[in-house]
Amino acid sequence: MTKFNIDRYKKLLKTDNLGRNIIYLKAVDSTNSYASRILKNKTRGNKIQDGTLILAETQERGRGMRERQWISPPGGLWFTLIIKTTLDRKELPEVTLIAAYSAAVILNRLYDIEVIIKWPNDLYYKKTKLGGILTEVEEINKDIFLIIGIGINVNINIDDLSPYNNESTSIRTILGKDIEREKLLTEILLEFEKDYIYYCKTEDFKSIFNKIEGILDYNVANFTIK
Ligand code: BTN
Repeated sequence: MTKFNIDRYKKLLKTDNLGRNIIYLKAVDSTNSYASRILKNKTRGNKIQDGTLILAETQERGRGMRERQWISPPGGLWFTLIIKTTLDRKELPEVTLIAAYSAAVILNRLYDIEVIIKWPNDLYYKKTKLGGILTEVEEINKDIFLIIGIGINVNINIDDLSPYNNESTSIRTILGKDIEREKLLTEILLEFEKDYIYYCKTEDFKSIFNKIEGILDYNVANFTIK
């Protein structure tokens, strides 16, 4: 397995803020849990830089939605963003969709992989799951922090996810080769930053949703746009 190269990542990163501060961990329970812990840590909590990215090579207790386990072997992209926000926690579904869209659009643009977002947080290729988003919130002294966790099965064999698993896929499986995780991550961050900032400034989710809708598989009853 090729280790994540921080120097390469920093060289490729074009964002203004997102991911400028990176915490790189060889192994962790869950990057989302780690984010919550450092925010709640009284001596450090207030000092966490907005836009901090936590990236781990492996997670021992990766978490998915509905308390599900998220298997995270080496070679995947397992990361969490901490964003101090003015948004309301009710807007989590919108943020989750914007994050999912950023990943989907970049996978398509860089590798020609046609990804569909399965409401509310899944990234699907054909009928197999390629990744997912877990967005959580921490309120610390009245400040609201978004904890946006993204997992993408990148350079891994699906057998490493769980034996006999035929519901998941990985970029390695789809393309038959490995890709540069540093490039994928930095492009997703740039894409996400653009739409996230637009949404915070304008609260205009409609125009963002117009583009998301083209690749969204959802039940209208679940979601209404303001
Ligand atoms: C889902 O499909 O239910 C969401 C999966 C989210 C997985 C990512 S991996 C990085 C971050 N840390 C976690 O423990 N979960 C998210």
